[in-house]
Amino acid sequence: MRPEETTDTMTKIPTHIAVIMDGNGRWARSRGLPRLAGHQAGTENLRRVIRGCVKFGIPYLTIYAFSTENWGRPSDEVQGLMHIIEDVIDRELDELHHEGVQLRHIGRLERLEPSLREKVLQAIDLTKDNTRLTLCIAFNYGGRDEIVCAIQRIIDDHIPPQDINTEVVSSYLFTAGVPDPDLIIRTSGEMRISNFLIWQAAYAEWYVTPTYWPDFDEEELRKALESYNQRDRRFGRLSSPGCSGGIEPQDG
Ligand code: FPP
Repeated sequence: MRPEETTDTMTKIPTHIAVIMDGNGRWARSRGLPRLAGHQAGTENLRRVIRGCVKFGIPYLTIYAFSTENWGRPSDEVQGLMHIIEDVIDRELDELHHEGVQLRHIGRLERLEPSLREKVLQAIDLTKDNTRLTLCIAFNYGGRDEIVCAIQRIIDDHIPPQDINTEVVSSYLFTAGVPDPDLIIRTSGEMRISNFLIWQAAYAEWYVTPTYWPDFDEEELRKALESYNQRDRRFGRLSSPGCSGGIEPQDG
């Protein structure tokens, strides 16, 4: 895919950005609003970030929308988040499809309401041939749960122990076929991994900003990319120009 915009200062564009969209609750509280208003604003913000990814030529975006631990939140917030995702599929699917976005789900579908499960599966099927941006939605997702699920399936498939290596394990994860994230962004200042892509993040670069997720706009994305451009990715080796990772812009 050809980057649709790069800047003179950016020579490296990540292939895959993953985002922990944190701070919705605090964004709402700081305005005297209920927490769900923060999640709504965070959902609206996704449009800006998706548009930004397309503009910068980033082919994969993963967002952490609901973790396996989020079931422990008050039931009105859990129900509200389920409703938001269902509503987003209803309202935005056609446009996302039209814009060439492929939707993937990472996590378990089992615990979701059958109607939501069905909508997610239909959205995945409708968009499966799109190539402009792959949007992976981590929903009912936990990194440890993903690894447990992979182990169960490897055992089910009778893979001999001597044949199990990192490639085999990767191919059994929910993210099979998706390149590991080059850059993980966490908004609202917390510096923890929170069970997100714990296998795939092995060599990701981290960018943490105090900005709350609903305020993380295209300019903030640009700052994250500029920070990424300053990084010397060594993957455990010594520094070398060939070790940068990500896409070299073709016209930047
Ligand atoms: C963390 O902020 C955010 C979440 C747990 C949910 C994020 C979900 C969305 C933005 C909706 C996504 C929708 C779709 C369609 C994928 P927090 O609630 O922990 O904020 P706080 O730390 O300030 O309380």
